[in-house]
Amino acid sequence: MHGGHGMTKHRIIYDTDPGIDDAIAFVFQTLHPDIELVGVTSVFGNASIDTTTTNALYLASRFAPHVLVARGAARPLRHPPPKPIPYIHGNDGLGDIERLGRVDKQVDARAAHRFIVETVRAHPGEITLLAVGPMTNLALALQDDPDIAGLVREVVVMGGAFGFNGTLGNVTPAAEANMHGDPDAADIVFGAPWKVSIVGLDVTHETIMTTAFLASLRDSASDAGGFVWDISRFYERFHVEEGLPGGIYAHDYSAAAFVVARESYTTRSGPVRVLTDGIAAGLTIQKPASMHGSAPDWDTRPNCDACIGVDANAVLELFANTLRS
Ligand code: BDR
Ligand code: CA
Repeated sequence: MHGGHGMTKHRIIYDTDPGIDDAIAFVFQTLHPDIELVGVTSVFGNASIDTTTTNALYLASRFAPHVLVARGAARPLRHPPPKPIPYIHGNDGLGDIERLGRVDKQVDARAAHRFIVETVRAHPGEITLLAVGPMTNLALALQDDPDIAGLVREVVVMGGAFGFNGTLGNVTPAAEANMHGDPDAADIVFGAPWKVSIVGLDVTHETIMTTAFLASLRDSASDAGGFVWDISRFYERFHVEEGLPGGIYAHDYSAAAFVVARESYTTRSGPVRVLTDGIAAGLTIQKPASMHGSAPDWDTRPNCDACIGVDANAVLELFANTLRS
């Protein structure tokens, strides 16, 4: 078994648009012994940048007071800013629950992409970028300082869909929300020379936190379990309207789980492109490493690992055990 010390520690910058499932993944990271959260960077997405930054400060104040929070991009690189989606994450982006405790944190003086560049440079080879919103901050960091690609330990992304469970998108028929939020940025991130793993709808739609699962966390797992229950009430209503019998998809948590439990996932290697325009903007397409014909738009780019299968029970058990510990 692995322990909580030394080489197994994952030092994470969490790039996020909280967001209910973002907040669930945040709580997990603050409690997992092999994760050291070194910073949170906000991005537009599930709500405006003002709202997601306020939420990041709230989450850090309540669950990880020592963690720095830096404010990130307000809009995509090139596309117009997205329309608000209060019917998914609530008006306040966290399910409109009553908030406990004071928010005594302030944002870091640096913009998120500068925070990423400087933190990666300060800890060469050690930082994992865990990105669960539109990828704008990561793309801006790469544009600012392309050499960080060689200094990051790895990049783990929640986003995209490769059709393994019959799904290509959730926000459009062809696009997952984080890819659709800034397809140019995602294509930049997947094309940079760093190690990228992509945790998309192929596995997040297989990993469902049911109502009973969430209720058992509420009843047994302290403050964090109660918080996850409270914020997920709003999100669950949206999922039920979309056809789930109950419960929620564990989107962003799945990417956090991948960092510490990649043995629970099956991956496929190959370069990934993201369509940046047209009716399928945000669609992710991988050229599998097993395909030998030439495909110039893929062949010059590095391999990414795309998740195509998951042991969902193991991943859910990891969540429950971590919250209970
Ligand atoms: C992704 O989109 C956002 O709404 C969620 O927080 C998650 O990151 C799922 O497609
Ligand atoms: Ca998110």
